[in-house]
Amino acid sequence: MVHQVTLIPGDGIGPEVAGATVRVLEATGVQIAWERFDAVGYAGIERYGTALPEEVVDSIRRNGVALKGPVTTPVKGGFRSVNVALRQQLDLFANVRPCKALPGIKVPFPGVDLVIIRENTEGLYRGIEFYDERLQIADSIARVTLRGSSRIIRYAFEYATLHRRRLLTLVHKANILKATAGMFLAEGQRLAAAYPAIPFNDRIIDNFAMQLVLRPHDYDCIVTTNLFGDILSDLCAGLVGGLGTVPGANIGEKAAIFEAVHGSAPDIAGKNLANPTALLQSAVMMLRHLDEATVAGRLERAILAVYRERTVLTRDVGGTASTDEFTHNIIAHLGAQQ
Ligand code: NAI
Ligand code: MG
Repeated sequence: MVHQVTLIPGDGIGPEVAGATVRVLEATGVQIAWERFDAVGYAGIERYGTALPEEVVDSIRRNGVALKGPVTTPVKGGFRSVNVALRQQLDLFANVRPCKALPGIKVPFPGVDLVIIRENTEGLYRGIEFYDERLQIADSIARVTLRGSSRIIRYAFEYATLHRRRLLTLVHKANILKATAGMFLAEGQRLAAAYPAIPFNDRIIDNFAMQLVLRPHDYDCIVTTNLFGDILSDLCAGLVGGLGTVPGANIGEKAAIFEAVHGSAPDIAGKNLANPTALLQSAVMMLRHLDEATVAGRLERAILAVYRERTVLTRDVGGTASTDEFTHNIIAHLGAQQ
């Protein structure tokens, strides 16, 4: 079967890691027909006058699946995040980010295995922002709905059940943010009763951040609101060897976008230094989503083998290999499995 998949290489290191991932997927023999869109973000503004051309969103709606590299978002002015816009327009409410160290990487704690399930469409990322120049007052409003809270927490309980996880921790700041985080927590406590097989607890975000770097093994699955999930994802990536290896999936009812946790890494862009593992692992998640579990398993084994050998790894995980050398080695391992 040929899968139609939208491809957004992105910018910065995006084209390098996306190029590597497409080459690896081709080497697996899986049949994918890519619908490729290069003009997104800055490139979209230059070519079409918009960072997120409508045809990109239409393509993902039609295909239901996309593989995406990072897209730069300017800090000041410019345009709103393409990433946030895609997640909101396609209602990709669940951002799933498994953080597990690959073999052979130097990490502060061996055996960490965490999954962040981040609400992906609401909270402070809703874009309800005002700046009153005269009064010099700025507002960024966190919009959290009961429906949105309920569906992400339900998703987290279902995920934990399906993947036989041992604990679900809801992370919040309900002591201060009584309206938004208070509602999120109350809904979590209500739903916990419907999933008695999954142990459930909750933690306040600041204390939780400390606990993660002292005792990460005490935790397993984490469900939280948008901003906290964004921050904790990078923290957890740091616990398992850095952003170069951690994958992600943005899941909605009708579409899914698979992309790494990391951004466009302007500091190493265009230098053949980027680690494509994070996007490769996102591709493993995509293959499972496409019901290509056998190919997903083969790709996963090739990645594990390359890390176990430790001879051809990129700089961010302690090696000296370029993006291309690493990619060739993954492809060689795929061949060796056949
Ligand atoms: P970043 O994640 O791009 O980079 C942080 C650090 O990690 C840098 O030192 C970078 O070199 C390193 N790094 C990241 N990915 C790597 C990889 N695959 N291999 C080796 N090293 C890697 O975060 P930063 O610099 O804060 O953001 C840069 C831009 O990316 C911003 O414009 C931001 O808005 C955007 N961004 C986009 C995302 C997306 O498209 N989903 C997600 C996160 C950020
Ligand atoms: Mg982030």
